[in-house]
Amino acid sequence: MAEMSRVGRWLVNAGNARRSRRLLDSIGNRLPLPSSPRLLELGAGRGGLSALLQQRYRPGHLVVTDYDPRQVEAARAYLSGELGPLPPTIELRPLDARVIPFGDGSFDGVFAINMLHHVEAEHSEYRERPGVLRQIRRVLSPGGCLVFRDFSRTRDVRQTLRELGFIPLFEKPGWRGRYLGVFQSPS
Ligand SMILES: C[S@@+](CC[C@H](N)C(=O)[O-])C[C@H]1O[C@@H](n2cnc3c(N)ncnc32)[C@H](O)[C@@H]1O
Repeated sequence: MAEMSRVGRWLVNAGNARRSRRLLDSIGNRLPLPSSPRLLELGAGRGGLSALLQQRYRPGHLVVTDYDPRQVEAARAYLSGELGPLPPTIELRPLDARVIPFGDGSFDGVFAINMLHHVEAEHSEYRERPGVLRQIRRVLSPGGCLVFRDFSRTRDVRQTLRELGFIPLFEKPGWRGRYLGVFQSPS
């Protein structure tokens, strides 16, 4: 795993808000979230999805994280621009998804968009992801949901989620192996 290059960050961040809006539109009202949900976003990048999560779900707690502190600062700037002064319910912090430092059942929803493959030394490997998925399962409340999108080894991700007891609620395969899924953790 390595931090992205400056050009890589620019490319990823440029279309982030537009892609995030499309993603939430695809999911529609299929997320079984309580009111004022507690949400965690892993590998949030520039924060385009975070801003939409705040606007659409009015979370009681929204934790916006990324491995790269520069991305966290980019997200802070973007969110402040979109939302104005940030409420105390929004927390931004650097975080490596391989070590999720929250207690069991801390969140009603976890978002991992285009980031799971980044936890591997090589994107094609599947060594670190099972551990990350186990931690996501741990920090989700019973019945909480994971939203993930990726293009790499998604068949293996889904298999691991099934082994962990997750139930698929919504699946949208895309071109060239791209995949979007909503999975509910066991109650
Ligand atoms: C391709 S970008 C996706 C950003 C955003 N979610 C989106 O869809 O536009 C991947 C992000 O994951 C972050 N990342 C890489 N390794 C990570 C890790 N181990 N834990 C958390 N985030 C990580 C990168 O810094 C980058 O911001």
